[in-house]
Amino acid sequence: MCGIVAYIGQRPAKPLLLEGLKRLEYRGYDSAGIAVINGKLNVARSVGRVSMLEEKLEGLKGFEGSLGLCHTRWATHGAVTEHNAHPHRDDRHGIAVVHNGIIENYAALKTWLQERGHVFSSQTDTEVIAMLVSELYEGDLEKAVQAALREVTGAYAIAVVCEKEPDVLVVARKGSPLLVGVGNGEFIVASDAAAIISHTQQAFMLDDYNVVKLTRTEFKTTDIHNTPVTPKVQQLELDLEQIELGSYPHFMLKEIFEQPKSLRACMSGRMDTREGRVVLGGLNTFAKELTRARRVILTAQGTALHAAMIGRYLIEDLAKLPAQTEYASEFRYRNPVIEEGTVVVAVSQSGETADTLAALMEAKERGALALGVINVVGSSIARETDAGVYLRVGPEIGVASTKAFTGQVAVASLIGLFLARRRMMSAGDCADYLRAMETIPEKIEKILEQAPKIKRITEKYVERENWLFLGRGYNYPTALEGALKLKEISYIHAEGMPAAEMKHGPIALINEGMPAVFIANKGRQYEKVMSNIQEVRSRGGHVIAVATEGDEHIAKYVQDVMYIPDIPEPLSPMLAVVPLQLMAYYAAVARGHDVDKPRNLAKSVTVE
Ligand code: M6R
Repeated sequence: MCGIVAYIGQRPAKPLLLEGLKRLEYRGYDSAGIAVINGKLNVARSVGRVSMLEEKLEGLKGFEGSLGLCHTRWATHGAVTEHNAHPHRDDRHGIAVVHNGIIENYAALKTWLQERGHVFSSQTDTEVIAMLVSELYEGDLEKAVQAALREVTGAYAIAVVCEKEPDVLVVARKGSPLLVGVGNGEFIVASDAAAIISHTQQAFMLDDYNVVKLTRTEFKTTDIHNTPVTPKVQQLELDLEQIELGSYPHFMLKEIFEQPKSLRACMSGRMDTREGRVVLGGLNTFAKELTRARRVILTAQGTALHAAMIGRYLIEDLAKLPAQTEYASEFRYRNPVIEEGTVVVAVSQSGETADTLAALMEAKERGALALGVINVVGSSIARETDAGVYLRVGPEIGVASTKAFTGQVAVASLIGLFLARRRMMSAGDCADYLRAMETIPEKIEKILEQAPKIKRITEKYVERENWLFLGRGYNYPTALEGALKLKEISYIHAEGMPAAEMKHGPIALINEGMPAVFIANKGRQYEKVMSNIQEVRSRGGHVIAVATEGDEHIAKYVQDVMYIPDIPEPLSPMLAVVPLQLMAYYAAVARGHDVDKPRNLAKSVTVE
């Protein structure tokens, strides 16, 4: 996802903007650029990392002003080239624009602007905004931006400067997040709080169609029709420590190791083990509707979908309520049937995933009760839900989702138990599950102690280009998640599937030494998984098993074992996934990849 940082104040903008861009690097990008007004508009752009833009700027003059904006671009319209990098500019009035999102009617606008003599130098939709603002500019940047946005359809977070107005920064939002940090005689605007927090903790989030005009001393918020709006300035709930590496080499490793702590925060105050009751304040308003619910549809993408799948198993198994999972991207366009009593749950770390947001909106329109299981407070999906439960796992910076996954599974499990209790589960049974959940953080700590062993096991297989991840029941989604983690950051081809499915085709892939990771913890299907292990072994495959502590028997049948503590089966994915996260991490490191900035990936995918 692209990133925006903009600044107006008393300090030199350039270092502050570059520092902000570095804090947004985790979101994923392929080029970067900056514009500073210093008497006139100065723009520099480069393909590649922010550090390359920095190098380029070293030899350039004109970037000394205290008003500017910058951007990291994740290509959607047009290739990864310097011409397509932001900021985009118009030289008639010296206007520069950075943009996150997609302008859907850009082709029609472009033709219209070309007929008026505007010459485009990029293949992007964003350049249209720069030209349109310029075309409508009559000496007032705020008005020109409002007028331009009235013509635009699609999603945007934008920041705009004009060299004719050296004391004005205009920013606006529809669909893509944008925050204004309120400092002392300065404002820092960014697409996420990570770029603001080292300067101020006071900030407000733009709502859709808000346009904010910032000068060095004040701000004024309107909508695109110039109607005044009063934003609510709030304290950012984020510590610098949470978004810094500390002693860890990568955010992914930091976040894997943070899981005991993040899960404690996630579960805290939500489990009444004495009464056998789940306390989810966010769902209280809809307790009646949830008790009467007839179907639950969990929708998400990627890792969040895997967490949703575990939630689905739990809701069916423990609450005996029909439940299904849907790729949000497929669900939306399938003309889905939403019967009365349907609850749709959108699961998302960022709360900005375009497919998930669109699916939620579709379901709401068709009459479903819309719930969210979201990490980022105030994000677009969180705002659109009727109710929900935040993960409270803290900011996740690593592109490969880890602590958000275990948080999503924990919350989905709590929702499953909440529904089960309202239907038929006894207080005693619920209390047993909750007590077991309480032990998860310390059990993860035990698994993390095995990190050096997991590293050694991973390094044995790291040269192999094809891996299988296999599991059954609750741990079939865990297998999918293990495969996705490995693919994302080590670029090894991995397939996850139900262990029984292997013999219906994929078994043909197994050759001498092919790694097959089995989640073979104790549970209802243990014996069946053991048979699947034999099928792989007898064809020369090498089996790495995730097994339950104390299961010495399995060691005789597999090449390597990674042990997890015993736990009731429905809760086991939160433990079983941890060794798989570590394997993916160590494989990527061994292959020399940039774990936190995997190629082609963005932290959150805001395009459909
Ligand atoms: O922010 P979200 O949870 O909605 O993101 C969904 C997926 O894009 C995300 O989980 C993706 O698959 C991650 N890169 C997985 O590590």
